[in-house]
Amino acid sequence: MAVKKERRNFLGLALGGFTTLGGIAALGAAKRTWDPLPSVMAAGFSVIDLSVTKPNVLYVAKWRGKPIFILKKTPDMEKNPREVIVGDSRYLICIGICTHLGCIPSYFPKQHKFICACHGGQYDSNGEVTKLPPPLPLYIPPFKIDGQKVIIGESSPEFQKLKAAGLTA
Ligand code: FES
Repeated sequence: MAVKKERRNFLGLALGGFTTLGGIAALGAAKRTWDPLPSVMAAGFSVIDLSVTKPNVLYVAKWRGKPIFILKKTPDMEKNPREVIVGDSRYLICIGICTHLGCIPSYFPKQHKFICACHGGQYDSNGEVTKLPPPLPLYIPPFKIDGQKVIIGESSPEFQKLKAAGLTA
């Protein structure tokens, strides 16, 4: 009789242990399902080294599948509240997508302007519209300056200031 009772206790413990392990494994699997994929996490930010940029040469990076335009301004380019100042340099940092119907404008360095081939819209070196039909300037993405690097996708007081002033969406 005692042997039967011990056997029952052992089976009960073993079943309880398996149930607990199964529950932990199920919770782990559920968490892995809920967590964003590593590729999605990595796509959230783009870090761009500004030290490699040259005046009046358009640098195009990528953020969440969108082109990001970085234009280091030359001293003769007019000052503008939309520009981002890093050290002694001034930059246009914007999403390189036309605000009309979403084409990608090209930069013409001699004229210091962007021209959208789709419907002829134009923007100056500040990303401001100089020729319709684009209804709005080129958008400035959330950004944060960290030394000579700009982190696209991370907000900062500089970006919030531009946003509060209505200089980007
Ligand atoms: S999409 Fe750029 S002008 Fe129409």
